[in-house]
Amino acid sequence: MDLFEYQARDLFEAHGVPVLAGIVAHTPEEAKAAAEKIGGVVVVKAQVKVGGRGKAGGVKVAKTADEAYSHASDILGMDIKGHTVQRVMIAQGADIAEEYYFSVLLDRSNRKYLAMCSVEGGVEIEQLAVERPDALARVSIDAGTGIDRAKAEEIVDTAGFAPDVRDGVIHTILTLWEVFEKEDATLVEVNPLVKTGSGEILALDGKVTIDENADFRQPGHAELEDKDAADPLEAKAKENDLNYVKLDGEVGIIGNGAGLVMSTLDVVAYAGEAHGGVRPANFLDIGGGASAEVMTAGLDVILNDSQVKSVFVNVFGGITACDAVATGIVRALEMLGDEANKPLVVRLDGNKVKEGRRILADANHPLVTLADTMDEGADKAAALAYGK
Ligand SMILES: Nc1ncnc2c1ncn2[C@@H]1O[C@H](COP(=O)(O)OP(=O)(O)OP(=O)(O)O)[C@@H](O)[C@H]1O
Ligand SMILES: [Mg+2]
Repeated sequence: MDLFEYQARDLFEAHGVPVLAGIVAHTPEEAKAAAEKIGGVVVVKAQVKVGGRGKAGGVKVAKTADEAYSHASDILGMDIKGHTVQRVMIAQGADIAEEYYFSVLLDRSNRKYLAMCSVEGGVEIEQLAVERPDALARVSIDAGTGIDRAKAEEIVDTAGFAPDVRDGVIHTILTLWEVFEKEDATLVEVNPLVKTGSGEILALDGKVTIDENADFRQPGHAELEDKDAADPLEAKAKENDLNYVKLDGEVGIIGNGAGLVMSTLDVVAYAGEAHGGVRPANFLDIGGGASAEVMTAGLDVILNDSQVKSVFVNVFGGITACDAVATGIVRALEMLGDEANKPLVVRLDGNKVKEGRRILADANHPLVTLADTMDEGADKAAALAYGK
């Protein structure tokens, strides 16, 4: 999960990274009040999870609170690379003497972390990395040791910092490492890291990506989630611990096991070519325990997708046998009652397939059609979605 800049700033502050005051605002009035509270020159900064805000006109200096009001009016609602600006951060203005760059990230292919650092930071870092890679120090970090004092010194000396800022930058890198480690991040990036006129080192812009696999030991991270941005169906699926991704098509898909669901998407997309070009409406993996509850939750999410015209349930019985899955489907349809209002094509195979098919045949639900093979099921579901 990527964080907004203001959330990264708050985490930085909590771990002792030197930052300036910053207050999030959702309206020009709030922006003005924040500017008054901070006092002096402020910077109004668009809060979107995409880079290049400054170049897009989303970062503006305001000398007075009224100016902050008017910049906020311009920036709120702005579209930056497809992201609508719903909030701004009012940041205390810094007197910038020099701009540097620092980041630390997970380096999967080398099973390490990687720190990158440059004395030439600012908005053009991607260009610098391509045109003059030597100006960007890359130091690999052992996952067991992390960034200790010696490592921080190596990073700073490889990047070539001047003696007057060396200690300040080392200290800041150590605090940023603490953020990375304690918050279970996969990326912590500061661009720019600045030296002020009075020689102070400050993190002026932060980007943090949190590893959601660590949510179980990071109870504080739940509130960092951007609920406004989440698709309502995806949010509902998440509440029920379902592995669901909304797509654009008309055929709802339920399967067990990510591999089977992926190939079901392919087969349905292929079958759809003969039926008006209908496509899969979602990815939904109900996993191993396809109980009635899980099936109900899955069907509930899919049937509430107004784009869905038919549903294809494609299950290969393994540890959870087909009879349990079939019972799950029958009970799910009972529980959903009138909410179940779209045709379902069910293909079962594997462990206890005969029993499973018998249970569905006996239930004789008007919405359910059985298919013997995956191709046949995909074709039927696509035809139903197209209205034939
Ligand atoms: N608090 C501040 N005080 C003074 N100048 C600032 C402040 N924040 C940012 N700036 C200036 O604005 C520039 C752009 O800001 P920032 O790095 O936050 O946005 P960006 O780099 O355009 O966005 P992104 O990081 O999303 O690409 C900085 O390099 C810095 O020169
Ligand atoms: Mg930046």
